[in-house]
Amino acid sequence: MKPSHASSLVRYAIRDVVLEAKKEEKKGKKIIYLNIGDPAVYDFSPPQCIMDGVKKALDGPYKAYAFSLGDPELRQEIAKIEGCSPDEVFVTAGLSEGVDFGTRILLDAGDSILLPNPTYPLYPTKADVIGAKAHFYECDGKWVPDPDDIRKRIDKKTKGIVVINPNNPTGAIYPYKVLKEIGDIAAEHDLPVFADEVYDHVLLDDVEMHKMKNIVKDVPVFSGNSLSKNFFYPGARVGYVAVHHDKGGEFLDAFTRMCNQRLSVNWEFQRGAIEAYRGGFGFLEPELKRLRKRRDIICKRIREIPGLSVAAPPAAMYAFVKVEGYKGNDWDFVYDLLRSEGVLVVPGSAFYKNHPDELYFRTNLLPDKETLESAMDKLENFMKKIA
Ligand SMILES: Cc1ncc(COP(=O)(O)O)c(C=O)c1O
Repeated sequence: MKPSHASSLVRYAIRDVVLEAKKEEKKGKKIIYLNIGDPAVYDFSPPQCIMDGVKKALDGPYKAYAFSLGDPELRQEIAKIEGCSPDEVFVTAGLSEGVDFGTRILLDAGDSILLPNPTYPLYPTKADVIGAKAHFYECDGKWVPDPDDIRKRIDKKTKGIVVINPNNPTGAIYPYKVLKEIGDIAAEHDLPVFADEVYDHVLLDDVEMHKMKNIVKDVPVFSGNSLSKNFFYPGARVGYVAVHHDKGGEFLDAFTRMCNQRLSVNWEFQRGAIEAYRGGFGFLEPELKRLRKRRDIICKRIREIPGLSVAAPPAAMYAFVKVEGYKGNDWDFVYDLLRSEGVLVVPGSAFYKNHPDELYFRTNLLPDKETLESAMDKLENFMKKIA
């Protein structure tokens, strides 16, 4: 008896590294966790209206399975934000389930999907499990995609293009011109676009966020989002995919089937999500100010440490840091840093593929000033030790 081959292909480094950190903790070491993008672990709280909505729902008629495609009022609120019909909105258990549905809808074994490099690791994992191939398109020094590289990588097996904007792990946000070029390529090759926009309100600089569905209209665009990042509520596990421009309706049918087979998303939290979307994103302004200050601390400190460099992230909640002069790979680096200093980050190769000679790690930007300064002191100390 043994587990399936497909299950052996599942990897999620962002959490896998925690196992090693827990071992160190057991030995008495204090660990600073910079590995995960969960704002609620730190001092960022969701708006109160969500919790009020959930509490009210607990006493209401929400004990049954919810509607498979999502609570009708929630679909309506999301449709307003997405500028589509509620019939085109599918509520999912976080965007993670939307990624699962989207990849399974686009891919059969032997097909391929184009992902940004670096990418969010769930996409290649899903492709692997299906028996499809993840192909990666390259980005420039500011981590903006190179449309020519996308064009080069398309072949008969390509079934879709994923755009993660703003990006995890780099925090890059893509200019209109680049998104338009990607949209034109998708239209030219008749390829659907999966637009992962889960950080679309987490903007740290005065940058504009362009939604893919407004840019490409000739092919289906799946817009993915959730409460996890924009509302600092990952534990709610409420997300959605809005399917735009699906003229034939085949993708709408496929998402409907996917939603039906998983029954439903927790109803009380969907009621909370209705309040989130009704309340809007105004609550974010002071929170983003705090996050911006933390981003600035991290970038300043990292740039002062010999051997480290970083492109300042204009959005999201991560920095993707380049390491030079270390003798070993990124996993060795991460575990050495953990054992030596008690700082936990994520190896860059979890996100960044086909560049074995370059060493990166991802840190989040989320802890308070004191914790960040202490983590940066330890990182500086470690870099001195290995120099
Ligand atoms: C780019 C990206 N997409 C999707 C997700 C999944 O988010 P959730 O399932 O919490 O909505 C994440 C989580 O970190 C992410 O960074």
